[in-house]
Amino acid sequence: MNDHLTIVTHPLVQHKLTLMRKVSASTAEFRQLLREISQLLAYEVTRGLEMTTETIETPMQTMQAPVLAGKKLALISILRAGNGLLDGVLELIPSARVGFVGLYRDEVTLEPVQYYFKAPDALGDRLVIAVDPMLATGNSSVAALDLLKKAGATNIRFLCLLASPEGVARMKEAHPDVPIITASVDEKLDDKGYIVPGLGDAGDRMFGTK
Ligand code: URA
Repeated sequence: MNDHLTIVTHPLVQHKLTLMRKVSASTAEFRQLLREISQLLAYEVTRGLEMTTETIETPMQTMQAPVLAGKKLALISILRAGNGLLDGVLELIPSARVGFVGLYRDEVTLEPVQYYFKAPDALGDRLVIAVDPMLATGNSSVAALDLLKKAGATNIRFLCLLASPEGVARMKEAHPDVPIITASVDEKLDDKGYIVPGLGDAGDRMFGTK
């Protein structure tokens, strides 16, 4: 996967995203839609994975059949909203290894500060898929990718539901080697760092908090 940005225009993805954007969507509806859309996005983010073959027996005969090559993928959830995307992706890739990155924003410096980091071993030998529904300013995503690279990751893809043009530009500048897969690049960020038109606070909407 070489393109820096892939927008998944599949009709089901776009339809579900519209339903999620609606302020009238309940927490249960939002969560269910996120689960469904995550699986469709997982299909895209895993496009072009390396394959090998193994010998299997069908009820009819022996054959060489295609299987994924190499070590299990590593899915990295950027807390907390990443967990919403993670669940759906894991349903499609149940054997993936899972890690978590927790960052908060220092109120004085406004820089992201790490409070949690746990990643699968041998990151450098795995395809690493970092997930966070909203690529807004890009500050926390860039910091999370910095941490993953420091931990040895060399082959990373970034999966989000929505992105801002500002976030995409920031990621391209800091991590040009990391392809971004998203359902939409919206119009802009507002002055509080929210994506508009967007869907509001993804974490609050999926967890029912305010
Ligand atoms: N995080 C969100 O959950 N929503 C935004 O619009 C921006 C960042």
